[in-house]
Amino acid sequence: MKTSVCIIGGGPSGLMLSQLLHLKGIDTVVLERQSREYVLRRIRAGVLEHGFAALMREAQCGERMDREGEIHDGFIIAHNGKQRRVDLHKYSHGSSVVVYGQTELTRDLYEARDRMNGIIIHNVEDVQLHDLLSANPHVTYRTGDEVARIDCDYIIGADGFHGVSRKSIPKTVLKEYEKVYPFGWLGVLSRTRPVSPELVYARHDRGFALCSLRSQVLSRYYIQVPLTDNIEDWPDDKFWDELKRRLPEEIAARLVTGPSIEKSIAPLRSYVAEPMRYGSLFLAGDAAHIVPPTGARGLNSAASDIYYLYHALLAHYQNNDNTGLDTYSEKALARVWKAQRFSWWMTTMLHTFPESNFYDQKLQQTDLEYLFSSEMAQGALAENYVGLPF
Ligand code: FAD
Ligand code: DHB
Repeated sequence: MKTSVCIIGGGPSGLMLSQLLHLKGIDTVVLERQSREYVLRRIRAGVLEHGFAALMREAQCGERMDREGEIHDGFIIAHNGKQRRVDLHKYSHGSSVVVYGQTELTRDLYEARDRMNGIIIHNVEDVQLHDLLSANPHVTYRTGDEVARIDCDYIIGADGFHGVSRKSIPKTVLKEYEKVYPFGWLGVLSRTRPVSPELVYARHDRGFALCSLRSQVLSRYYIQVPLTDNIEDWPDDKFWDELKRRLPEEIAARLVTGPSIEKSIAPLRSYVAEPMRYGSLFLAGDAAHIVPPTGARGLNSAASDIYYLYHALLAHYQNNDNTGLDTYSEKALARVWKAQRFSWWMTTMLHTFPESNFYDQKLQQTDLEYLFSSEMAQGALAENYVGLPF
């Protein structure tokens, strides 16, 4: 098979790029290791910055997001029983975020690709990237016993943190920056009314807690847990008890509990791979960088990569202009590092660290007190949370 752009990974990054390019008449094939059902079962991000929402609309996939998603103009930070509302609208020149689940937007992207007869090949195994430094790279993969080959101009590595694309860049070229945090997030989805109309990020001596939502009847909660914990250690009753203990009393008193419909533990990690281009291969999204989820930057950082790549490929195919492709890595990484800094800062400010000493604890407390008392500090938080410009 021959295509212009072969995209490895059918997560939000890969599907979004495929859809945007298709609308401009550029041919793509998407290779996905899992089945569609599996991809759509994964519960991940919930908060979209306005730039991501705009990209969904540009991809002609924003209709349901605009109908069912919730616009949030602010969120709550709780600390030592006190609460502070961060007014996103006020501090970011009228910007806001959209609460709309990654599962739903992935479904919308799949449906759009189906409507346009986009090629997405699922359940591919043993994907291999070849001749990356040539102008004629190709990809091979296996489905069952059959081995297939795709010739293309460019390969996009949008296959997440555990994908094959980044690993295809020689170790002598790839520079990796990593920070692993000594805890994870236990997430619970429940068919209950959310405890608060706006998200609540709570710092507590017992550990961080987050109250989020997917709709007015679907809640998403997280608590910080040690890395050694398993799902079996957290029956529903224990989870709800622990969540309540970490929230300010008046919020805890309103919490409606119910059976969990999904429960998972995600370790927290900060990671960046540089460069994001190697010959004909371009990395995008989690394949190149990971943030701890505090601050909701993961999916949103993927969106800016896709924005840059989309415009770079467009300039190449429409005007034979390679400037965007040649500067992609540098441009994408500049924004990636800002998301890294913000996510690290939010994580450090809001979690309890097992190894922290009194000095670290005082600094953390001061950080929160400064945030609570300074409009400038809240402004900087808001500017990053709604998303820096692409
Ligand atoms: P992915 O969504 O990882 O998609 C990559 C795709 O590539 C997958 O479908 C995978 O099956 C496929 N693939 C992998 N290897 C291969 C291969 N060899 N061949 C073909 N296909 C392959 N972000 C937030 O902002 N808020 C959150 O609450 C949040 N929670 C998260 C929880 C978890 C458990 C994880 C893992 C991530 C979370 N994130 C969160 C981050 C956010 O979900 C990601 O940033 C986002 O999914 C990135 O999209 P992506 O398309 O780049 O990568
Ligand atoms: C969600 C996850 C986040 O990491 C975050 O900062 C906000 C919301 C969520 O899953 O709803």
